[in-house]
Amino acid sequence: MIDRNYKPYGLEPIETASRDEIAALQTQRLKWSLQHVYENVPAYKKKFDATGVSPSDFSRIEDLAKFPFTTKHDLRDNYPFGMFAVPQDRIARIHASSGTTGKPTVVGYTKKDIDTWSGLMARSIRASGGRPGMKVHISYGYGLFTGGLGAHYGAEALGCTVIPVSGGMTERQVQLITDFKPDIIMVTPSYMLAILDEFRIKGLDPRESSLKIGIFGAEPWTNSMRAEIEDAFGIDAVDIYGLSEVMGPGVANECVETKDGLHIWEDHFYPEVIDPETGKVLPDGERGELVFTSLSKEAMPVIRYRTRDLTRLLPGTARSHRRMEKVTGRSDDMMIVRGVNVFPTQIEELLMRCERLSPHYQIELLREERLDVMRLLVEARPDCSDSRMRESEGAALATHIRNIIGIGAQVVVGDPGAVERSAGKARRIIDKRPKE
Ligand code: DLL
Repeated sequence: MIDRNYKPYGLEPIETASRDEIAALQTQRLKWSLQHVYENVPAYKKKFDATGVSPSDFSRIEDLAKFPFTTKHDLRDNYPFGMFAVPQDRIARIHASSGTTGKPTVVGYTKKDIDTWSGLMARSIRASGGRPGMKVHISYGYGLFTGGLGAHYGAEALGCTVIPVSGGMTERQVQLITDFKPDIIMVTPSYMLAILDEFRIKGLDPRESSLKIGIFGAEPWTNSMRAEIEDAFGIDAVDIYGLSEVMGPGVANECVETKDGLHIWEDHFYPEVIDPETGKVLPDGERGELVFTSLSKEAMPVIRYRTRDLTRLLPGTARSHRRMEKVTGRSDDMMIVRGVNVFPTQIEELLMRCERLSPHYQIELLREERLDVMRLLVEARPDCSDSRMRESEGAALATHIRNIIGIGAQVVVGDPGAVERSAGKARRIIDKRPKE
């Protein structure tokens, strides 16, 4: 944990700039980005022309709403390199996000884009309480996924000692944490729970570990999960957000001194929240789908990219950049069970109240006699082996779900280890319903 007298350190002037200064920079950079895509990416030119807009229609931030959205389909249709705005010999690196079906989404970076990304990741780690000289254990996957290398370059840029472990081999993760004594761990929150289990299996007290800060993201997680992890390890758990299409991790990050939502680094990304049905831009404070326009990206700029992530924009606190509320879910993850909309994080919130159950969970959606059934797989904590106790804990959780979310769920309480583990993003939903 950071100490009580913690003062943010080494802030860049833009992090506390006035709203007017930020807006002036955004206006100038939006103009540049619109011109850049129009001149260099035929797919954007075609879309702008079809909508009857051109970069000259932009003079103030409000004008951005005239421009068409970009979606994952646009990226897929132009697979692999059709969205790039610079010649291939200027592309310094390629990443891709796997997606569940079909072709991956491919993204590219110039050398300058990599430097910007590293700088923003360094800023994010610093906002999380990190400092030069600290040791950073990185368990985000290395490779085409942006998590590992994004964190790596950022930690290096901040002047940290990087321990590039990548995901998986949980025993070795614990061994390296014990031996190398890192100050910071960067990993998905669900994999942090697997690491926690391994500490306990080994008979090690996680609170005795050297870790002070955890920087967790790449998947939705609740404040209750934060409390669980913070308490178990005695660390500060901070949320980091990002997506490949927009850059990778480090688009937004919480500040450790407030932990009140993620500051969007507005000097490089312009956020909007829209009504996902109508596409109308919503005022700050209203919940909807998050949309980003990149402000400085050279290789693969994005204009009004629809993230599918649901959140709302809030005013700045620890920094003058606006915050996004913790992402509760993606519109793709919304389950409709007998007509009720439900996100995995709502289930997580209720599960965390059950003291005898561990925080691992997976949801199966089935169809029985033409009706949707939600089966929730959870685990008893190792000290809860009594079958009657397990049964009553499962029944209590089912009651909470019925009373609070309004749906019936079959809760199956398995042994410790019964729920599938992932070394990266957890797979929360398995939809076994027949496709219509
Ligand atoms: O997950 C980038 C990343 C790596 C972020 C490491 C943070 C840490 P993608 O694989 O392209 O990129 O997946 C992006 O993951 O649209 C969200 O749905 C989800 N996501 C990312 N961070 C968070 C978060 C990386 N903090 C998609 N909370 C995004 C909730 C998150 N969801």
